[in-house]
Amino acid sequence: MSGLTLLALAGLAAADYTASFGGAIPAGLCAPNTAGFTNPTIQPSRGGAAICVSGNVAVQASAQNVKFNFDLPKNESEVTNTFLELITQGSTFTQQIMGGMQMISGNYTIASTLCMPANGTMPSSVQLLTHGIGFDRYYWDFAPGYSYVDYAIEQGYATFSYDRLGVGQSSTPDPITTVQGPLEVSIANQLALMLRSSTFANANFTSVIGVGHSFGSAITQSVTHSHPSTFDAAILTGFSTNQSAIAPFLTSLNLEIASINQPYRFSTLNNGYLVSYSAISNQYGFFRAPNFSPLVLAAAEASKGSVTFGELFTQAAIAGVASNFTGPVAIVNGDADLPFCYGNCSYPMNKAEAAISMLYPAASANGTYLAPLTGHGLNLHYTALDAYKFIGSFLKQNRM
Ligand SMILES: *[C@@H]1O[C@H](CO)[C@@H](O)[C@H](O)[C@H]1NC(C)=O
Ligand SMILES: *[C@@H]1O[C@H](CO)[C@@H](O)[C@H](O)[C@H]1NC(C)=O
Ligand SMILES: *[C@@H]1O[C@H](CO)[C@@H](O)[C@H](O)[C@H]1NC(C)=O
Ligand SMILES: *[C@@H]1O[C@H](CO)[C@@H](O)[C@H](O)[C@H]1NC(C)=O
Ligand SMILES: *[C@@H]1O[C@H](CO)[C@@H](O)[C@H](O)[C@H]1NC(C)=O
Ligand SMILES: *[C@@H]1O[C@H](CO)[C@@H](O)[C@H](O)[C@H]1NC(C)=O
Ligand SMILES: *[C@@H]1O[C@H](CO)[C@@H](O)[C@H](O)[C@H]1NC(C)=O
Ligand SMILES: *[C@@H]1O[C@H](CO)[C@@H](O)[C@H](O)[C@H]1NC(C)=O
Repeated sequence: MSGLTLLALAGLAAADYTASFGGAIPAGLCAPNTAGFTNPTIQPSRGGAAICVSGNVAVQASAQNVKFNFDLPKNESEVTNTFLELITQGSTFTQQIMGGMQMISGNYTIASTLCMPANGTMPSSVQLLTHGIGFDRYYWDFAPGYSYVDYAIEQGYATFSYDRLGVGQSSTPDPITTVQGPLEVSIANQLALMLRSSTFANANFTSVIGVGHSFGSAITQSVTHSHPSTFDAAILTGFSTNQSAIAPFLTSLNLEIASINQPYRFSTLNNGYLVSYSAISNQYGFFRAPNFSPLVLAAAEASKGSVTFGELFTQAAIAGVASNFTGPVAIVNGDADLPFCYGNCSYPMNKAEAAISMLYPAASANGTYLAPLTGHGLNLHYTALDAYKFIGSFLKQNRM
């Protein structure tokens, strides 16, 4: 068996005790309560430090989404042409498709995973982990040795990760009108409030920390803007306010209709759901050589997550100055991040610091960290642990 196959097995098919042990949990592990989940299953985290319950969560959410005058592309040629129009200089494409706002509401299935320390202690603080474009909730618990969940658990937190609307095992509604930034902000806010009100595992969390990656950071940031008391602290990774490299990022992803690119995974999705074209596209957008394992890139490609037109058209519109957010906030980036730093987070100034000063005038404390020689997909690089240690000590310093 090749090394690649082994990594894929280890990383992508973590043991499911429900299936392999007839529901029995190995001695010494304390199973979390499954309250709040439907179809619950119990697994260890892929990294092994936590015991987790995964299942479906019903979330009622509503938001003012954008109404786009944009029809579902009929074929790949139309998809490619849409991105060419979007990035063309002087183009009025964005203005042309703007059709005002419309209220969207519904009950959505959000596939989620709550992880707790395997020794059965009940943390008082939980981190709500929101992944970005091109991944799913397992960005946070990717494979043994690549697990933010393990790090957070070892620091004494619980973690709650979820597939964003439209991704993985969650609902996949209309990719233009429904799966957009504003509604996803409402869903993240609802999940945080559910964590606070003991909806899951009968756990009484007294503090909820919002942690995001990329588009998930934009969503987390937007929650601190529109619902400033939802999170006690916010950690934004792979994020800035500088959009100048979004065009090269979109170009490098070379987006293809998901059901054509990986039919065995995405056959049920319509032409509004896209994925990056290949491992090369994935490397362009998310990795920086030589600071990652080729096996990890291959595993990221095999498990890549979809993105919708609605998300790409609204990704820049949801951030706002969080003038009423008074908790601590940190921005943590790979210093060679492509989409948010154009490959250099220190040029022409520190773009993480610039984002803090622009967005967080009332934060009780702030911090920034740039992981050396690291691309946008921070957690999948050799430097990830140093970034986690920064986050851990920032939260402890601020008594979170
Ligand atoms: C894509 O669809 C458009 C509109 O139906 C059509 O004009 C065009 O020929 C198609 N292109 C390809 C490559 O199939
Ligand atoms: C969502 O579900 C709740 C209860 O399950 C129900 O009261 C509500 O009307 C539903 N909302 C929508 C928009 O379907
Ligand atoms: C249980 O595990 C957590 C996470 O590793 C740790 O913080 C805590 O101290 C442990 N508690 C006991 C009683 O061993
Ligand atoms: C959580 O809080 C509620 C109300 O404060 C209390 O009734 C319940 O026993 C607590 N549960 C745990 C597990 O501490
Ligand atoms: C902050 O709070 C003030 C007072 O409640 C309110 O007027 C203002 O609109 C809030 N700002 C934002 C960005 O929500
Ligand atoms: C955004 O970053 C680019 C370089 O990556 C820089 O030229 C530009 O001035 C920055 N924009 C702002 C508003 O800081
Ligand atoms: C990033 O920009 C800074 C400031 O101009 C420069 O010192 C540094 O060498 C650049 N990094 C790379 C990798 O080019
Ligand atoms: C960030 O924190 C430093 C102190 O560590 C402070 O001087 C600065 O004003 C803070 N920035 C913002 C935007 O609050």
